[in-house]
Amino acid sequence: MVAAVVSIVVLALGCSAAAWMYLLKRNFELMAAEELAAGAEAVRLKIQERVGRAELTTRFIARDIAASPELASDADALAMYLKGLKAAGFDADLLSALDMDGATTAHAAPDWAGDMRGEPAFLDPLFSGAAASGRSAGVAVCLPEVVCVEAIEAFYLNGTKAGYVRVGHVLDDAFAGEIKLATGTDYLLLRRGRGAAGSISFGALTPEESAALAGAVSSPGAQAASARLSLGGKPYFIKTIELKDAAGRVAAQQAVARGASDIQRAEREALAALAAISVLGLAFALALGLLTSKRIFGPLGELMKTVREVSEGRLDARVPDGGRDDEIGELSGAFNDMTRSLLDRAGELERRQAQLIQSGKLAAIGELAAGVAHEIGNPLSAISGYAQMIQENAHSREEHLRFASEIEREADFIVRIISDLLEFSRPSGDELKPADIRELCDAAIRTVSAHKAFTRVEIISKFAPDIPLVECHPKEIQQVFMNLIMNAAQAMNGGGRIRVEGALAPDRVLISVRDEGPGVPAHIKDKIFDPFFTTKPPGVGTGLGLSIAYRIVEKHGGRLELESSASGTVFSFSLPLKGAGC
Ligand SMILES: Nc1ncnc2c1ncn2[C@@H]1O[C@H](COP(=O)(O)OP(=O)(O)OP(=O)(O)O)[C@@H](O)[C@H]1O
Ligand SMILES: [Mg+2]
Repeated sequence: MVAAVVSIVVLALGCSAAAWMYLLKRNFELMAAEELAAGAEAVRLKIQERVGRAELTTRFIARDIAASPELASDADALAMYLKGLKAAGFDADLLSALDMDGATTAHAAPDWAGDMRGEPAFLDPLFSGAAASGRSAGVAVCLPEVVCVEAIEAFYLNGTKAGYVRVGHVLDDAFAGEIKLATGTDYLLLRRGRGAAGSISFGALTPEESAALAGAVSSPGAQAASARLSLGGKPYFIKTIELKDAAGRVAAQQAVARGASDIQRAEREALAALAAISVLGLAFALALGLLTSKRIFGPLGELMKTVREVSEGRLDARVPDGGRDDEIGELSGAFNDMTRSLLDRAGELERRQAQLIQSGKLAAIGELAAGVAHEIGNPLSAISGYAQMIQENAHSREEHLRFASEIEREADFIVRIISDLLEFSRPSGDELKPADIRELCDAAIRTVSAHKAFTRVEIISKFAPDIPLVECHPKEIQQVFMNLIMNAAQAMNGGGRIRVEGALAPDRVLISVRDEGPGVPAHIKDKIFDPFFTTKPPGVGTGLGLSIAYRIVEKHGGRLELESSASGTVFSFSLPLKGAGC
């Protein structure tokens, strides 16, 4: 039971720790995604701001040129003007003038600004927009080395369009530095899969990392998801943003990156803290579980032990009083009350039983006394009558002699009753020893067969040859044979056969005495073993024969049993070979 509680606690804690770990990890990933989204938004705003600045600058210059016709007509003067602006610290990386066809006529930017027609694919939409409306802004990749955002504005001479001013801001490492400063995320700009600018040096990337980065920024769906990449040997989360030109075509790819190691470290620290809390929680829960289970199962164990003791008959067993006022305390109290009442009832039962035994004994003594009085009463009356007749002296000497002989016969009968009673009530004094059961039976037959009841009776005795000597009181067993054989002969009034048989069972000898008499009537079957119960006329039977035999057999560890029908009766009993230690 304790193990089950502990397992449940461990399982619950394990599940909750796993859930917490998953949520924590997910939370860190969401934090990284949020940071990357903020970085991407910052990039968008900065680019918009650059475009806005370029537009303002072109407008200003276009108005300036229109106000000075010599600038519009003279390319050298225009170039000087633009260089002057640049030298004065005008905020633009690219500053040039174009003719009506888009060819550069003057420029103040580095040489790579060159001829716009070098990158027609990107400039055309920008230029055609400007050609149509007089001004345009957008993103263009001017040359292989750089990516910039640009604006173009037409300038006029005497009210006629005379050319265009072009202003651009390069998206370079400095731009990447600004993004990093503002958002804490790194910025990477790739053009045609190659690094163009970034706050992380592209030179520090291994070829595999470069390839993985190029693949990540150009893969379909890259805009939606953030990816994990290794850059310069360090883990990063990255999010990619497309940079489009004026016609909406992808001009370059940008990526914002967030170092994953910080997040991973924070993640690790949080997981370690969570693990420590889980272990502590587990230890606490285990301790609490053990304490609770001890508090609950300990008293239940005591209760079970006491229940077992009571079921084994020790009604004085009690559940120890733990001084608890909860359900277990109530249960223990109720159990103790129950055993107390059981003990009281058992005592009462014992008292009643003792009373019953006592009254049973008294009844038995009364019955015995009545039997004795009845049996002895008749011969004593006869003796008293004969004695009176002798005293009257009115009879002849022959009659006196007959009276004396009657008195002697009745007195003999009384003596027999008394000796039978003694036999019934106390041990014979006969010694316990091994005896041949066949010989005891033969001796009994010899003794009784002289009686007149045996004149037409045949006795057949048949004992198995392997019956060993039996440990018994020989005279008593002989007495049993005599009583049973005598009863059998008396039952077969007109003569018949008596069969005495002996057989061997594993540890005892089985004996039966069978006659061909009328059987024992059903209504007296349960009385024939009672002392003084007889159906024979006075002076013939005392009714003690079977009760004496029953007692002797019982004393020897056996049981005298009756089987009777209209064609005869069988009395059988068994004796243990080793005796019953009686
Ligand atoms: N083999 C038998 N067949 C039929 N009835 C029997 C047999 N043995 C005993 N009884 C009945 O059981 C009664 C009791 O027998 P028990 O031997 O105790 O006394 P008893 O023979 O009447 O007198 P006692 O043996 O003292 O001379 C008998 O009176 C008789 O009615
Ligand atoms: Mg008898």
